[in-house]
Amino acid sequence: MRKKVIAANWKLYKTPKETRDFFLAFLPHVQGHTRDEIVVCPPFVDIFAAVVAVQASDIAIGIGAQDLYWRSEGAFTGEVSAPMLRGAGCTHVIIGHSERRQHFGETDDSVNAKLKSALLAGLVPIVCVGEVIEEREAGLTEEVLRRQCTRAFAEIAAEDARPITVAYEPVWAIGTGRTATPELAAEAHRVIRSEAAKAFGQTAAAQLRILYGGSVKPENAAALMAEEEIDGALVGGASLDPKSFAAIVKYQG
Ligand code: 13P
Repeated sequence: MRKKVIAANWKLYKTPKETRDFFLAFLPHVQGHTRDEIVVCPPFVDIFAAVVAVQASDIAIGIGAQDLYWRSEGAFTGEVSAPMLRGAGCTHVIIGHSERRQHFGETDDSVNAKLKSALLAGLVPIVCVGEVIEEREAGLTEEVLRRQCTRAFAEIAAEDARPITVAYEPVWAIGTGRTATPELAAEAHRVIRSEAAKAFGQTAAAQLRILYGGSVKPENAAALMAEEEIDGALVGGASLDPKSFAAIVKYQG
């Protein structure tokens, strides 16, 4: 049985003060909740506030960044590296989110480079894959997912791959209120798992956690999480409100 991961992706929302306020309200809701792993990925400037808030509690919550650069250090103005994230108290990092692919030139190759650097630094990478609506309508979903996974997983040894987590986020479901059905998500997850099996072997693939992302809300979380192939959620909009994110974390199966 794979333990589910419920992760928040705050995107470009919240200041450090708003981050502190979020945790003040959120932590009491999830006190004693051990069924699932909880991860919160705020903007870079809020990481410190998030780490301090979590450390002051006795609740195990991972803090993640939303991106990183693959070099450890150097003349790369504006970038943040994996060792820096580790030093700042991060445990996780999102890689290859579709918004970065869409707006910031992220490619399958940069995803691969970032994944390798995250693993090397001991971060848990959450690698995002997913098709756009035109690809789904053209019947290309499986091909797109296979390409994104093959290229992301390239040249990574099976023994190094254990921490990898994947998030299947169909781009047409992100921020649209249009959620993939649990069956449709499960179908995509099976494709991703079969690519992981090719890259890392059956055992590693069976242990791989594949999260679903795209308009996850308190109202649909239970139905999605009931699907055996879905090992958690990557939540955008509904993770910004402490009560709403807590309700997703504590979905009732
Ligand atoms: P929404 O939950 O707002 O659709 O965003 C999903 C997402 O992109 C999480 O990474």
